[in-house]
Amino acid sequence: MEEIVIKGGNRLEGKVLIKGSKNSILPILAASILATEGKSVIYDVPNLKDVENLIEIIEYLGVKIDREDNMITIDATCMNRYDATIDCVSELRASLFLLGPIIARFGFSEISQPGGCAIGIRPIDLHLKGLEALGVVFDKSHGVIKGKADGLKGARIYLDFPSVGATENLMMAASISEGQTILENVAEEPEIVDLANYLNNMGARITGAGTNMIKIHGVTKLKGTVHTVIPDRIEAGTYMIAVAAAGGNVLIENVIADHLKPVLAKLREAGVSVEEEFEGIRVKSEGSRGCKGITIKTMPYPGFPTDMQAQMLGMLLCADGRSSVTETIFERRFQHIEEFRKMGADIIMAGNTVALTGTEKIDGTIVYASDLRAGAALIIAGLYAEGETRVGNVHFIDRGYDRLVENLRSLGADINRVQR
Ligand code: UD1
Repeated sequence: MEEIVIKGGNRLEGKVLIKGSKNSILPILAASILATEGKSVIYDVPNLKDVENLIEIIEYLGVKIDREDNMITIDATCMNRYDATIDCVSELRASLFLLGPIIARFGFSEISQPGGCAIGIRPIDLHLKGLEALGVVFDKSHGVIKGKADGLKGARIYLDFPSVGATENLMMAASISEGQTILENVAEEPEIVDLANYLNNMGARITGAGTNMIKIHGVTKLKGTVHTVIPDRIEAGTYMIAVAAAGGNVLIENVIADHLKPVLAKLREAGVSVEEEFEGIRVKSEGSRGCKGITIKTMPYPGFPTDMQAQMLGMLLCADGRSSVTETIFERRFQHIEEFRKMGADIIMAGNTVALTGTEKIDGTIVYASDLRAGAALIIAGLYAEGETRVGNVHFIDRGYDRLVENLRSLGADINRVQR
């Protein structure tokens, strides 16, 4: 079994280049299967387990995918299956992105029901309700969702919650439909805009992405195109917080500051120096002990991202005074708390809020990642903990960080992957 071992205490210095966004490339890969003409070429594809798994499922559907470094070429003209029911589908939540595009293309789909996960129940009702409004009839039995539609028809759909995945699924499906679709109370994340740009370059007619209302004028077919994925704002934010926690001076390159407004604001509030430069964002910090306690509440974009909650907590364990963090997006996204306590953190939890009082120091020990971002947060704490921190469940971290250990080591951290 693999572990990540960190000896705390080193400052971080230098620069780090951010890769393409995980949460953009996953729906973009799914949207690629809508092209019945030509190939798509996608640049800046991160090297992640989630991406590898989704590619495997798409290839199973008959699509040809070639990968060369960070570029992939997708030929979906030869796609010949509508059943995504192989084993890994139910384990990979992103496989749900295939539901809308497969039905839009074939009028049928069969997909294994994705399970819940460590961070919450993760229902898919908004995806199904929206697709039903477009004319899909679903049958769910034995863990498989079967969908059928005699051509999709535009509709007016109001999402009860601005779900990122549901917004993306509906945008993809409605792109190939008859008439106009209006999606209301949708998610406004930068990844939605990236997907809309990609679909529009394929020939779709989508307006309003990035606001809470999206209009889609259905077309009859889409073709392959060329696209570069936006930088990963969560990866960028993770490195910023790592520098803030460990102390140091690092330039984060290939980052769109506008996508990280709440994270930058909270880092500044905590007393961290965050400056935009021509090549990227420079973060300078004296480390967790030099930070001030702050209050955070996760919200849909443009609010503070739930995907940064754990890392921010990881930075605040020794901050001066009290911090409070409220999680409003997922029900069970505080499993890292118990691991932080093992390191000596002073944390109290009540409902969906945790109150934290900064301690003089935290100690390295054996801890386990409960999900992707919790794993990053434990590494961040390990960077300034006294002694050695061993982080288990490394597979979660590989789902969403490309070369995290190597990058932190190149910045000066004492960090290694080892076989236990
Ligand atoms: C996406 C991101 C994930 C991020 C999350 C919230 C990807 C691949 N993943 O996940 O990193 O943490 O947005 O920013 O882009 N919900 C329902 N019914 C549904 C769908 C969602 O009740 O049909 C609820 C969820 O349980 C959750 C909330 O809506 O409480 C937000 O989920 P959603 O925005 O859909 O997250 P994902 O798209 O799964």
